[in-house]
Amino acid sequence: MKLGYFNDAHREYIITDPKTPVRWINYIGTLAFGGFVDQTGGALLCKGDPALNRITKYIPQLPASSFNAETLYLRINTPTGYRVFSPFFVPTLDPYQRYECRVGLGYSRFITEFYGIRTEVVIFVPPDGEREVRHYHFTNISSSQIDLDAIPVVEYTHFDALKQFTNADWVPQTMQSRAIPQSDERLVLLQYAFMRRDTAVNYFTSNRSVSSFETQRRIFLGDYEFGSWTAPLSLNGTELSNTEAQRGDNIAALMHHLGVIQPGEVRHLITQLGQADGLNTIQNNINAFLQPEQVESSLTDLARFWDGYLSRLQVSTPDESMNHMLNIHNPRQCYITKNWSRYLSLYQLGFGARGIGFRDSSQDVMGILSNAPEEGKPLIRMLLHTQKRNGSAMHQFNPLTMVASQGDSQENEDAPHYYSDDHLWIILAVLGYVKETGDFDFLDEIIPFYEKDRNGNPSESGTVLEHLKRSITFTSLDIGEHGLPLLGFADWNDTVNLRKGAESFFTANLYGKALLELVALFHHMDDKSNAQAYLHAYQAMRDTYNQHGWDGQWYLRYLDADGSPLGSHHNTHGQIYLNGQSWAVISGFAPLEKAQQAMQSLFEILNTPNGIKLSAPGFNGFDSTKGGVSTYPPGAKENGGIFLHANPWAIIAETLLGNGERAYQYYTQINPGAKNERIEEYECEPYVYAQNILGDEHPQFGLARNSWLTGTASWVYQAATMYILGLRPTYRGLLVDPCIPPTWPGFTIRRYFRSACYEITVSNPQHVQHGIKSVEIDGQGLADNILPIYSDGSEHHVRVILG
Ligand code: GLC
Repeated sequence: MKLGYFNDAHREYIITDPKTPVRWINYIGTLAFGGFVDQTGGALLCKGDPALNRITKYIPQLPASSFNAETLYLRINTPTGYRVFSPFFVPTLDPYQRYECRVGLGYSRFITEFYGIRTEVVIFVPPDGEREVRHYHFTNISSSQIDLDAIPVVEYTHFDALKQFTNADWVPQTMQSRAIPQSDERLVLLQYAFMRRDTAVNYFTSNRSVSSFETQRRIFLGDYEFGSWTAPLSLNGTELSNTEAQRGDNIAALMHHLGVIQPGEVRHLITQLGQADGLNTIQNNINAFLQPEQVESSLTDLARFWDGYLSRLQVSTPDESMNHMLNIHNPRQCYITKNWSRYLSLYQLGFGARGIGFRDSSQDVMGILSNAPEEGKPLIRMLLHTQKRNGSAMHQFNPLTMVASQGDSQENEDAPHYYSDDHLWIILAVLGYVKETGDFDFLDEIIPFYEKDRNGNPSESGTVLEHLKRSITFTSLDIGEHGLPLLGFADWNDTVNLRKGAESFFTANLYGKALLELVALFHHMDDKSNAQAYLHAYQAMRDTYNQHGWDGQWYLRYLDADGSPLGSHHNTHGQIYLNGQSWAVISGFAPLEKAQQAMQSLFEILNTPNGIKLSAPGFNGFDSTKGGVSTYPPGAKENGGIFLHANPWAIIAETLLGNGERAYQYYTQINPGAKNERIEEYECEPYVYAQNILGDEHPQFGLARNSWLTGTASWVYQAATMYILGLRPTYRGLLVDPCIPPTWPGFTIRRYFRSACYEITVSNPQHVQHGIKSVEIDGQGLADNILPIYSDGSEHHVRVILG
C-alpha cells in the first residue's frame, strides 16, 4: 500500500489519500507563532508557548474523522436545497474526485475536487508575520454554473491549554467574542479570555465581504449541539446568527456568498488567524494579507529561506531515497526539532510537561550546524543558562520564563534527582558549533549558571569553556563503587531507573567522547597542560571501563547498586544493549578486536529488517527495580523496541570500523522514504523519522510511532553526511573520510564550510568501502584528507579517489 509520493522538484511529499493510518502532519511557523497542520486541514496553533498561550482547540485523541479545530465548509445552492461539504474531506467525509495534500517546506497545499468545485488552498505562517494564512482558489470545473458560499471555521481553546480540560467552571465563563466591521463589508472576529481583553486577542478575518457570522459553537452546530460538525444545522439557513459569544465554547465562522461561478471561473479567499495585543495592531496587521500578490510574495520569501538553508549541503548518491531525505526532508526535520524541541507534536501534547529538554536540544543543535550554524548559538546559550554550578544540568525548561525542572527524576523521593548524561551532551554541541564556525570567541563568553541568589540574580557565572569544564568535573566526581559514573535517575535511556548507587557504562562512554573532544580543542589552542590532564582522565576511564565492561562477546550496559550487571548474558531480560556496543566504539574505549566483536554481536542479536532493537530480550512484566522500561510490553519503545534515535550510533560505529556496507544497511533499513511502498505496516509519515518502531517481540513488529520531534533526525543526518559520506568539520579544515557500500561507484556532495563552498566528487574505482587514495583541490594534490579553510567566499573543486 502507498498513500503518496515524493516530488523532489517541488521539495514536497504529496499525500494522495486523506485516510492515512494515523494523522500525518506538517509544521508551519515557529514557536513564536505556529504549530502543525494535519492531512485534513486541521491545525493546532499557539503563540510563544503551547501550554500557556494556545489558540486552537485541536484534540489529537479524537478520531481522525472529527473536526480538528479548523476547516472550511463549501455550500452549493441547488434548486432542491443546499449541498454542504468540506474541501478538506474532514469533517463531512463526502466522496471526492481528487484529493492531494502537498507537504511542503513550511506550508501545506491542498488540491481537492468535490461536486464540480476544485479547491486549491495553501496554508502557512508568513516568515515575517505572526499569523496563519490560508489562501483559497475555488474553480468551477463543471460544465454548469455553481452558486457557492464559503464558510471558514475555527474553534478556539482557552489560552491555558490544560485548564481548558480541567476546569469547566472558570474557563467557559471567561471566553468571549466580538465582531468588528471593516471597510468593504469585511469583518474581524475577536476572541479572548476576559482577563486578556486588552492584552492578547485572537482574531480571525478574511479579505471578502462577510454577510453574517457565528462565534458560539452551540448555535453553529444547532439543536443544543445535537447538530454536528458533519452537518451543522445553522448551515441550513441563508445566514448565520451574528451572535457575539458572552461565554462558552467560542468559534469563529464567516459567511461568504461567493456568488454564481461560471464554468472555468475562479474565486479567491484569504483568511488570517492570529493574535495581537489589541484592535489597532490587528487592523494594521491584517492589511498585509488582503491581496493574493501579498500572499505570493510571502511564499516566495519562505521558499528563499529554505533555498538558503538546504543549499548549504546537497548530495547526489546512487540511492534516490537517500538523496531526497538528505537534500530535503532530513535537514528540514532537523530544523523543526531544533525549533520545537519536544514542545508540541501528536505525541508531545504541549501541556507543559516537556518544553525544551537539555539533552534533547543539545543533540538537536548538532543537526542544524551544517545548514544554519548561526542559529545554534542562541539555543546553546539558553541551554548553558540551565546548567548548575556543580556542572550537572537541569533536565528541561521553559524558554519564556527560563524556569527549569529536574523532569521525571523528581517524582520519586528515593531516586537521584539528576540524569547522569545531560550535561555531557552540551560539550559535543558547543564544540561542534566551534568547529563548524571557527567562532572561538564564544568559548570566552560569560554565561550565568542556573542557581539564583535571594534577589533572583545569578549566584555565579563562568565562560562557556568553564561550563564545559564543570560538566567534566561533575562526572569525574560522581563515581560509583567500580569507578564508573553513577547512573543518577537515568542516563540517555530515560526508562532504566536502577537503585541509587547503580553505575552507567553509557555515561562512561559519553564522558570519554566528551573528553576526546576537549583534548582536540586544547591541542588546537596549544594548551598542553589541559590537553594532557583531560587525556589522562580519558585514559583512566577507558581502563576502568575495560576492566569491568566486557561480558565475553559484548559490552555491559549497567552495574546495579549491588554490582550485578545488566546487559550481560547472565541476565534473563536485557542481555544485550545497542548503546553498550555502539558507544564503546564511538568513545574509542573498545580495543579493535573487542569493538568488532561487540558490533558483530549487535548485528546478530539486535538487528532486524526494520532497524536495530535497543536491547533484547524485553522485560516481561513490571519490575520496580528496573523502572520505566518494564512498564512497556516486550518489543515496545525502550523495552526491546527499535528505538530509532540510537540506530545512527550503530551506523557511526560501523563507519569508524570501516564497514561501509553494514553502515549503509543500517541507514537504509530505517529510512522512512524507503518504507513508502508498504506504509500499511509502518503507518507514520514516510517523509520524517519517527522515534520508535515496534520490535520483533511485539505482535505489531514494524509499526512506527512518535514522528517528527525526535533526536533521530539529528543523528541520522550526522551519521549519513559526516560518517557515511564522511565530511566532518575540524578545527583545521573539512575532513573528507567516506565509508560507503563497495557497490557505489562514487557520489558528489556540495557543502559550504566557514565561508567557502566545496564541490566534491568522490570516485570509487576499486569498489572499496573505506580508505583514500588521493585528494585534489582545484587541481592540486593534498598531503592529507583535510580540505583547507578559505575565508574569501570562494568555490573549490575537490576530487577524492578511494582505494
Ligand atoms: C526520548 C527522550 C530522550 C531520551 C530517549 C531515550 O526520546 O526525549 O531524551 O534520551 O527517549 O529514553
